[in-house]
Amino acid sequence: MFEEGQLYSAVTQDADGTVEVHLSDNHPGLHDAGYRARRGEIAAASLAHERGTPLPTIDYSQDEHDIWRVVCRELAPKHERYAHPEFLAGKAALGLPTDHVPQLDDVTALLEPLTGWSYTAAPGLVPLRDFYGDLGRRTFNSTQYLRHGSRPLYTPEPDIIHEVVGHGNQLASPRFARVTEAAGLASLRLETDEAMKFVADVFWFSMEFGVMAHGEDLTAYGAGILSSYGEMDEFRQMEIRPLDLAAMGTLNYDITAYQPVLFRAESVDHLEDVVGHFFETVDDDLAARLRAQASASV
Ligand code: TRP
Ligand code: FE
Repeated sequence: MFEEGQLYSAVTQDADGTVEVHLSDNHPGLHDAGYRARRGEIAAASLAHERGTPLPTIDYSQDEHDIWRVVCRELAPKHERYAHPEFLAGKAALGLPTDHVPQLDDVTALLEPLTGWSYTAAPGLVPLRDFYGDLGRRTFNSTQYLRHGSRPLYTPEPDIIHEVVGHGNQLASPRFARVTEAAGLASLRLETDEAMKFVADVFWFSMEFGVMAHGEDLTAYGAGILSSYGEMDEFRQMEIRPLDLAAMGTLNYDITAYQPVLFRAESVDHLEDVVGHFFETVDDDLAARLRAQASASV
């Protein structure tokens, strides 16, 4: 169920409709029966949802609102110091609540007027093709559960804090939103699974875990760094490499740990020129050539 140690949870639904969430051996919520039951409830709500109807409303508990509040409070000074100004401008324009977990429809109401993006609910991991296809329609698939309260500074799997505080603020920037949409549109052109994985991995090392120069500073613009106040403290100590599409599309990584290798764009222009242009032009052929280039250089 947890392939290659990369998955931290899986959702199953049996014949009578009962939804269960299975957590991996090292999940912080594994021995918390209340947390597991809550994950099941939230997953069931999004499984029952039909596209085009209002998203399921989750009645968040005080504990869940507290986790959101603590993470937002801890992130605020770290964002001020080490988030790229383009992300900070998006964050200021979006104006997410910091004292309670917003509903996904509330996020859409804030985001759509800025960049045309909306949020939809997902029970857990969404297959690559579906996730990226939706990005091409400016629709972001988001989980609705919260990380376990014992470990708010980092979660081994994306939760609503990552999806909304990380990606939502990022998608409030028209420039980051365009690069993200281009990755989605690319997925619609690609036929091979290898090319799809290559594009997803370039996305991983850019919109998820990208870092960017800003004057003398190294800042973060990747949503996966910006939603973790633990990782916000660590990313500047990691191995920082220049943008390199062949390397970004082929390097192996563990999705459940702080990323030890990061790729630096010199500016938003540079990100658009290299990564944005790649997403706009990539086809199966180009992905295959870059893969070959990477294996020739090791
Ligand atoms: N570590 C991120 C956080 O604490 C969440 C996360 C886990 C994540 N796995 C991920 C984000 C993979 C992006 C991709 O907020
Ligand atoms: Fe993400």
